[in-house]
Amino acid sequence: MPWWGWLITFAATWLVVGTIFDLLQTKHAIMRNYPFLGRFRYIFEKLGPPLRQYIVTSDLSERPFTRLHRGWAYQAAKGLSNTQPFGTQIDQDSPGVIKFSPAPFPTPDLHAKDDMQPVILGPNRSKPYAVTHVANVSGMSFGALSKNAVLALSRGVKLAGGYMSSGEGSVSPYHLEGGGDLFYQVGPGKFGCRNEDGTFNDEKFREVAGREQIKAVYVKLAQGAKPGKGGVLPKEKITEEIARIRGIPRDRDCHSPNCHAEFSDTLGLIRFVNRLRGLSGGKPVGFKCVLGGEEFIREVAQYIAQHDDGPDFIVLDGAEGGTGAAPMSLADHMGISLQESLAIADNVLREEGARDKVKLIGSGRIVTGAHAAIALGLGADLVHIARGFMFDLGCIQALQCNTNHCPTGIATQSKWLMRGLDPTDKSRRVCNYLHAVHHDVMMIVRALGLKDPSEIERKHMSMIVEPGRRVALTEIYPTSMKAFRATRVIRRADFSAA
Ligand SMILES: Cc1cc2nc3c(=O)[nH]c(=O)nc-3n(C[C@H](O)[C@H](O)[C@H](O)COP(=O)(O)O)c2cc1C
Repeated sequence: MPWWGWLITFAATWLVVGTIFDLLQTKHAIMRNYPFLGRFRYIFEKLGPPLRQYIVTSDLSERPFTRLHRGWAYQAAKGLSNTQPFGTQIDQDSPGVIKFSPAPFPTPDLHAKDDMQPVILGPNRSKPYAVTHVANVSGMSFGALSKNAVLALSRGVKLAGGYMSSGEGSVSPYHLEGGGDLFYQVGPGKFGCRNEDGTFNDEKFREVAGREQIKAVYVKLAQGAKPGKGGVLPKEKITEEIARIRGIPRDRDCHSPNCHAEFSDTLGLIRFVNRLRGLSGGKPVGFKCVLGGEEFIREVAQYIAQHDDGPDFIVLDGAEGGTGAAPMSLADHMGISLQESLAIADNVLREEGARDKVKLIGSGRIVTGAHAAIALGLGADLVHIARGFMFDLGCIQALQCNTNHCPTGIATQSKWLMRGLDPTDKSRRVCNYLHAVHHDVMMIVRALGLKDPSEIERKHMSMIVEPGRRVALTEIYPTSMKAFRATRVIRRADFSAA
C-alpha cells in the first residue's frame, strides 16, 4: 500500500474508533451529542487563549493586560522606541482613566540624566540598601518560574543595577548564579528556612539571609491575587530539585499554609520582623500585605511612630496583582486596588507620624512608567513589577501558568519548553525594560515640572469618573482619612453611574 493509503486507513480508523468511544462515554455531553466533532471544542478551547491575541482581539480588549500594554513591554524589552503613531488609542473620557496635569514650563530634558534620589531601605540599620531605580522585580518563586526564567531575571537585574525578590519558593542556585541583588521572601511555607514540621528555623534562615547577595528580607502575609490563601504549586511543576530546595514531597500539590505559625496579630508580626532583622545581621526587613481597609495599617503605623524597630518597608499588593495559580473567588473579590491601598497607607502613616520611618512599595498591574508614576503619586516610594517582567522574558499571556504547559518556557518546569528561553538574550531584555520604566517615569517627572520621582503627588493627577467629568485625585483620595472616608460614598456613586 502507498504511504497515503496507510495515512487514510489510520485516519479512518481514528475517526470510527473515536466516534464510537464518544458515543459510549458519559463524561462529556458535547462529545456524546456531537461524536468526534465535539473533540474540536477541547482543541479550540486549549488553543483559544494563545491564538486569540494574533487573530481576534483588538489592542484594548485583552485581559488582564491589553495588547497595547504588552506591546509597550515588548518594545521596551527589545530596547526599541516606544513612540506610537497617530495619537492615543485610549478613550479619553473613559471612567478610571488618570490624567497628569502637565506643567506649562517642564523641567528641561536636554542633557538631563535619569538619576533619581536613591530610596534607602533601613537607613538606620547596620546594612541599609539604596534603591536607584523606581521599578524592580516582584516576587515570583523558582517553581512557579523555570530555572531559565529565574536566571534571566537575576542576570538582568544585575546588568541593570536593580534587584529581584525570590518569591516564596526560597533562594535557588539560579538566583545565585545570576548574581543579581536579591530580596529573600519568607512566606508561611518558610521555604529555605523551615523545620520538617514547617515551622521557622533560625539557623537555616541565618544561613540564607546572611549571604552577601541578599540585600533585604520580607515576610509575606498575602499577595493581591489570593489574600488568605498560601502559595499553590501544582504537583506537575514540582521537580526533584524544587522538592529538595523547598523541603516538600513531589506526589501532591504544594499548598503553603495561609498564615504564619509564628504569629497571629500585628505585634506578633512586628516581633517576627525584628527577629529576622537580628538574624540577618541588620539588613532591612519588611512585609508584604493586601489591604481591605485602614485598621491593620494603622496599628502598624502607631507602632512604628513610637519605636525605632519594626518594618523598614511595606509592600502593598493590589487586588489586581498576578499569580501562578489562584482560586477565582479570591482573585476576583478579595482585597482592594493598589490605588486605594496606597492612598490609605500613605494617609494613615502620615496621620500617625510614621511616614518618614518606613518606605512603601506598591505592586499591582504596573507595566508602563505612567502606571508606576501614578503609584508614586498616590504614596509609593518604589514599585514592584511581576508580569511586566514576564513579558520581557517572552510571555504571551497564554494563561497556562498553572498547568506546567507555558508555551514560552517561563512558568513551567518542562525541560523541553524552557529550552526555548535563552537566559542570556532575555537578561538583556530584563535590563532594558527596567531602565525603560524608570526612564518613562523620569519623562513624566520632567513633564510635571519636577526633578525627582519622590515629588509626584496626588495634586498632579485627576481621574475621569464618568464621561465628561474629571475629578482631582486630591478629592477622590484626600490626604486625611476623615475626608477620605467621607468620599467613599461619593466615589461608589460615581462609578456605578458610569
Ligand atoms: C508567576 C507568578 C508567581 C508569583 N509568585 C509569588 C510569590 O512567590 N510570592 C509573592 O509574594 N508574590 C508572588 N506573585 C505575585 C507578584 O509578586 C506580585 O505581587 C503581583 O503579581 C502583582 O504584580 P504584577 O501585577 O506586576 O504582576 C507571583 C506572580 C506571578 C505572576
